[in-house]
Amino acid sequence: MSDNGVIFSTEALNLWYGKNQALKNINVNIKMQKVTAIIGPSGCGKSTFLKVLNRMVDLVPNVKYTGSVNLQGHNIFDENINLVNLRTRVGMVFQKPNPFPKSIFENVAFGPRIHGKHKKSELNELVEKSLRQAALWDEVKDRLNEPGLSLSGGQQQRLCIARTLANEPEVILMDEPTSALDPAATSRIEDLVRSLRKHYNIIIVTHNMQQAGRVSDETFFFLNGELIETDRTEVIFTNPKDNRTEEYITGRFG
Ligand SMILES: Nc1ncnc2c1ncn2[C@@H]1O[C@H](COP(=O)(O)OP(=O)(O)OP(=O)(O)O)[C@@H](O)[C@H]1O
Ligand SMILES: [Mg+2]
Repeated sequence: MSDNGVIFSTEALNLWYGKNQALKNINVNIKMQKVTAIIGPSGCGKSTFLKVLNRMVDLVPNVKYTGSVNLQGHNIFDENINLVNLRTRVGMVFQKPNPFPKSIFENVAFGPRIHGKHKKSELNELVEKSLRQAALWDEVKDRLNEPGLSLSGGQQQRLCIARTLANEPEVILMDEPTSALDPAATSRIEDLVRSLRKHYNIIIVTHNMQQAGRVSDETFFFLNGELIETDRTEVIFTNPKDNRTEEYITGRFG
């Protein structure tokens, strides 16, 4: 554990897809045990920034990046980094719920099995704990062997969150996790984010300013691949320093 209250820090982070530069000289600290919201207009680099943090972006052909990203003080761009381990420590939840075509139980047990947990009693315990943390247990405890895909969209998203939690990650990246959900399901996910913030570091991309205001402690505003401003969420929404931030949050563009 580093003791400076920072989970991630980036230094001179630049990223290109082919010739298109998607991230430009990003220097930022992400605080521990906070919810950090990432906002900005479409195409400004929000998802790219998230996908750098567990190197999911490596899966894109012709991607190139420079600079460094430090997770608890270790550069995740180091050649000898173990990507499976990195993606376990830094889990991700996507815009569309994407359960595996397996049972509810097997969706959650998947990661722990890969990491060598095979004892039935141990798995049962971890699956229950993860589903409880994801506020889904009561709805599924009597149907654990049914397909994950038989759940509603909002339940599927909570199942995906449970699947991530079962890996006992340090960081959870969420890329617009409620944009495919109705208001009631959205509200449940927002409650969940708030309840998880004590034990996890959460970084959430959202197009919804009210959502950023409701769930986050810190907010980062991106524009055209640049990080324009970072501050406590209430400051970003009431008293931003940069007029481009103000224009965005008051709805003048994006
Ligand atoms: N796989 C890819 N291959 C090539 N270019 C990409 C790829 N993904 C993103 N880009 C480009 O990188 C830039 C940033 O895209 P990114 O998806 O990070 O934006 P975003 O802020 O998440 O947008 P949105 O709000 O629409 O999700 C855009 O110019 C986009 O076209
Ligand atoms: Mg995106």
